[in-house]
Amino acid sequence: MTVDLYLLTAGSALTGLIFYYFGGAEWTFWHLFTVPLFTLVFVIFSSLSVIKRFKSSPKSASSKKIIPLENNGVTIVFGSVKGNSRTFAQSTYDKLSKDLNRQVIIQDFNDVTDPEEFLQTQAKNQRTLLVFIPTYEDATPPPSAKWFLLHLQEAATDFRVSKGELEKLTYAIFGCGNSLYFENFNKVGKEVDRCLSELGAKRLLPTELADENTAKSIYGGQEGHYSKWSSKLKSALETPKTEKCDCSNDTSTTTCCKTVTNGDHSIKNDDNNNDDDEEEPRIESDDDDEAGGCKDGNDDIIDLEDMGEYMENSSPTKTPKGPPKEMVTPLIRKSLEKQGYKLIGSHSGVKLCRWTKSMLRGRGGCYKHTFYGIESHRCMETTPSLACANKCVFCWRHHSNPVGTSWQWKTDDAKTVTQGAIDNHYKMINTFKGVPGVLPARLAEGMKIRHCALSLVGEPIMYPHINELIEILHSKQISSFLVTNAQFPDEIKTLQPVTQLYVSVDAATKESLKKIDRPLFRDFWERFLACLRALKDKGQRTVYRLTLVKGFNTEEIEQYAKLVELGDPDFIEVKGVTYCGDSGASSLTMANVPWHEEVVTFVQALCERLPQYEVACEHEHSNCLLLANTVDVINIHSMELKVIVVWKLHQVLHVQINVFFAGDIIQIQSVHHGNGKQMMLKL
Ligand SMILES: Cc1cc2nc3c(=O)[nH]c(=O)nc-3n(C[C@H](O)[C@H](O)[C@H](O)COP(=O)(O)O)c2cc1C
Ligand code: SF4
Repeated sequence: MTVDLYLLTAGSALTGLIFYYFGGAEWTFWHLFTVPLFTLVFVIFSSLSVIKRFKSSPKSASSKKIIPLENNGVTIVFGSVKGNSRTFAQSTYDKLSKDLNRQVIIQDFNDVTDPEEFLQTQAKNQRTLLVFIPTYEDATPPPSAKWFLLHLQEAATDFRVSKGELEKLTYAIFGCGNSLYFENFNKVGKEVDRCLSELGAKRLLPTELADENTAKSIYGGQEGHYSKWSSKLKSALETPKTEKCDCSNDTSTTTCCKTVTNGDHSIKNDDNNNDDDEEEPRIESDDDDEAGGCKDGNDDIIDLEDMGEYMENSSPTKTPKGPPKEMVTPLIRKSLEKQGYKLIGSHSGVKLCRWTKSMLRGRGGCYKHTFYGIESHRCMETTPSLACANKCVFCWRHHSNPVGTSWQWKTDDAKTVTQGAIDNHYKMINTFKGVPGVLPARLAEGMKIRHCALSLVGEPIMYPHINELIEILHSKQISSFLVTNAQFPDEIKTLQPVTQLYVSVDAATKESLKKIDRPLFRDFWERFLACLRALKDKGQRTVYRLTLVKGFNTEEIEQYAKLVELGDPDFIEVKGVTYCGDSGASSLTMANVPWHEEVVTFVQALCERLPQYEVACEHEHSNCLLLANTVDVINIHSMELKVIVVWKLHQVLHVQINVFFAGDIIQIQSVHHGNGKQMMLKL
């Protein structure tokens, strides 16, 4: 119960008593005690509430309270969707407000209602403005900073606005981005820098282009950039203003005369030339290595001390031949762990799904149980690569994922990854011991994994030892369903057979695939088609997974039918998208989730165009239907024969036999060879 609730209760009781007392109710001896007692309770709770409010009120200027601006102070302003820029801004605030003998305030762009007035006030008070800003799709800022950037761009090009309008303002920019977006890399940070500079503001430090691409960033990710930048910031802020930047001499090599840096190169300021590609890269000294030392921090935030440790461990180097970086940076690790992932080594993860928990309680399983007989409480969901090459709008990870177009990270061996996943899975299952409602028999079964879904998040076939990992799973009598995102055709070709190979077919046209998957590859469509063709030649059981997103891809039935012909899969799973909540980085809402009837209508229309496919099964709870390719099905109408086939097959192969049900189709499959195509029977 909160203090406010106490207050309400005490207040109501007191009011009631006062009315009772003055209303002429019959007086008793106990009123002498109760009225003063309730008054006392009321006073105590009121004071507690006031103290609590006072204590919890943010010290920063992100509250609506107007703080008078002092001259020469520092204003930190940030825009953020996924939280990275906010984290760096908050760490800077925590550190500077302790170390600096000047007023430091922090503000979200959301609270900058009048950008013009905001900038003029900062300039008038000769403040230093620290801007933390990311770049999003097609070089756009986060929504909160949209008006700010628009104002800056207009002011910078408006001939009526003086070019010295912000000359009393000093600024530094920390841009968050990902170099995998090529020419759009940190475009917003660069644009803010250009506009502020054109309006006469003085650059305190070159704009930092922090790179999320851990494989390319010489500091191993944004945290490394931040650690470096923040130590430079500290010394720059401590330098008396009179010693600041003079870029009038063309040969000046002063740090602040460079417009941008992403650690491996920095670029000389040239106000007449705004085309970054034209500018000459120059190596900048990194001698000023210094880790920060902020001790306290918000729970969501990795403080500068953590960064210091991280820097020591990752030992950034300028030589491209340095050891490969770890895929998961401390910031990504923290975010994924918060979402319930157990991380294994530096690039793999495992998580317990809600259906596992449901089956442990004796309730229903997921659609894989209905479709293929997979018992959810004996199924492990894992991935050997948390990274993928997409930023799908419906991603479960809320985009806290590493991304990459090729494997360039430190690699853990397949044994470590598999054993790590199994150990962590069992640990999570074990936490259900003694939990009310959990069935002991199910719990015991759960301690023997029978199935592995390599589909958690990321792109499992990016992992260089994926074939070895699959072999280990099969040797432990664990069957495997692997889902790939249709961007790596060569890896599909070299993949050894798994029990069931899925390809995500998230859209049927180039335009909608770009909108839904937001792929990193420029030739994403060609890769997508090549993956589907590669599937056809795999000679193993294959599945298309269609995720329907209303308003994005539900109208493309004709085109989907063509894609099905390309890959000729054994099964097609059609599923309505699951809404994972508002992630900020995606515009998806509940309105994009199709109703089950809409999924059924889509499937019927698809079947009309694909006569060889039949609806084999349905799982309404998961908003999902299964279509089976009937051409591959041997129509044998004998239950007896089916049993004999299973037994005989077992005798001949001397390997474990898996029997899968897909609606009224039964499949008999050797786990070892992972190929059940020839053994399909229709009852
Ligand atoms: C959908 C999406 C699109 C992105 N587009 C770009 C881009 O065009 N250029 C870039 O440099 N970074 C891009 N990024 C990377 C983000 O800028 C990076 O993740 C940044 O750290 C996000 O900052 P925030 O957590 O403060 O929102 C994109 C990220 C997402 C999720
Ligand atoms: S491919 Fe998977 S992990 Fe990658 S963004 Fe899409 S849904 Fe997320």
